[in-house]
Amino acid sequence: MFSKVTSRTRALPLLSLLTAAVSAHPLTERAPTYEPKPYTVNVDPAFIQETRDKVIKFRETVDIDAPAWFDGPPATDINAVAKYWAEEYDWSAVQDGINANFSHYYTTVPAPGGNYTQPLDLHFIHQRSEREDAIPILFLHGWPSTSLEWEKIILPLANPEDDSQPAFHVVAPDIPGYGFSPAPKAPGLGPSEHASVFASLMEQLGYDRYVLYSTDLGAVVAFSYIVDYADRIINHITDFYLTLPSDEDTARYTANQTTPEETRYLNSINAFFGSHSAYSALHSTYPLSIAYALNDSPVGFLAWRYQLAWTVSDKPYTPEELITEALLLYIPGVYGNIRNYKELFSLTQFVPKKPFTVPTSVLQYGYEKNWPEHYPELAYFNYVPRDWVERTANVTYFARHETGGHFPALSEPEWVIEDIRAALS
Ligand SMILES: *[C@@H]1O[C@H](CO)[C@@H](O)[C@H](O)[C@H]1NC(C)=O
Ligand SMILES: *[C@@H]1O[C@H](CO)[C@@H](O)[C@H](O)[C@H]1NC(C)=O
Ligand SMILES: *[C@@H]1O[C@H](CO)[C@@H](O)[C@H](O)[C@H]1NC(C)=O
Ligand SMILES: *[C@@H]1O[C@H](CO)[C@@H](O)[C@H](O)[C@H]1NC(C)=O
Repeated sequence: MFSKVTSRTRALPLLSLLTAAVSAHPLTERAPTYEPKPYTVNVDPAFIQETRDKVIKFRETVDIDAPAWFDGPPATDINAVAKYWAEEYDWSAVQDGINANFSHYYTTVPAPGGNYTQPLDLHFIHQRSEREDAIPILFLHGWPSTSLEWEKIILPLANPEDDSQPAFHVVAPDIPGYGFSPAPKAPGLGPSEHASVFASLMEQLGYDRYVLYSTDLGAVVAFSYIVDYADRIINHITDFYLTLPSDEDTARYTANQTTPEETRYLNSINAFFGSHSAYSALHSTYPLSIAYALNDSPVGFLAWRYQLAWTVSDKPYTPEELITEALLLYIPGVYGNIRNYKELFSLTQFVPKKPFTVPTSVLQYGYEKNWPEHYPELAYFNYVPRDWVERTANVTYFARHETGGHFPALSEPEWVIEDIRAALS
């Protein structure tokens, strides 16, 4: 008779907070009932200062007379960012903005089961729309991002200026080990365990059916999610739908019989996984051994992260953006997020487990207008041929844009908002 209490509450989250004391009925509890609590980002100023002290003592590397980005981020860029960090960067102003702009929460979710048997704590942004007809949407980021990858689209999605546009209740968690979600304490949090964690979060918020938006390692989680929780997903929107060639595609490629579109795509993914992805091999084999160095050198970590961000992005970064994005992964400890690759990254996991029926929206943001010194061989990385995607996915919306790269919600936020709206219309 207390099922209403022990099952997840369907009340509005804020109301459920107010009633939490009442609903924690001592007679009926077996498993603990978790409730989200409002959260304020508040990093220990002593840690921020300690980090700055390391930045001040950063040992410069002298690079050789090679083209920019030939061997890594140019030393002039890194030295300039380090100088800005040492002299001007103001974490506390950034933190004030993060707190002022978004509604933050913290909760615990039950052990996901499978290969991970402990409860997990989660930080998440939960931006509820004022609109009664708002649609819940869950955003899953990847590395090297956090919930703040969505910072430019959360508010317009939650409360669109134009009433004729759909509105959303936005849920944007930090994956465990990133941002303000503590890292898992043991191995085993694989794709389906991650999916279980976020499905529990959505249950806790009272959302039965929702849109799932994924990117990067979040897309790996999503490909489990749409199989394990198919009936909860209104639509899976992803800006990272990688498809690997079949044996037949590879044979055609070798014999020069692929279409120009297929050839460009295969050239780009071969270039990426052949020559630009050492970071992923390292993170997914010996994350602890490299973490000692990255965790001890904030500038070293920034440079490591910057290489990937620059490789796959098509926007220039300000020093403040580079530092903030690095700090959001450095603050919790680098090991906890880079080892996520060991759980989630393998080429076969970037593709769905099997054909599925969940309506799927594929957003492709290209690199066609990169600034001149970018890696041209990666230009078509995001342009999987649509018919390849349709081998496994029920494609209900497909959009291809010339720019936006791997972080379109930061590079081309208006387009992402438009695509999300159009995908659901
Ligand atoms: C909130 O976000 C907006 C848009 O990204 C930004 O311009 C503003 O500075 C942020 N607010 C604060 C208080 O930082
Ligand atoms: C748990 O790990 C085993 C061995 O790696 C794997 O075969 C199995 O699929 C995993 N279980 C889940 C639920 O992910
Ligand atoms: C494929 O096409 C390229 C460029 O047109 C050519 O150099 C190469 O010899 C061709 N290979 C085969 C196997 O036909
Ligand atoms: C694809 O999704 C649409 C929209 O939900 C649905 O009507 C259709 O039956 C699905 N198609 C397949 C092949 O599952």
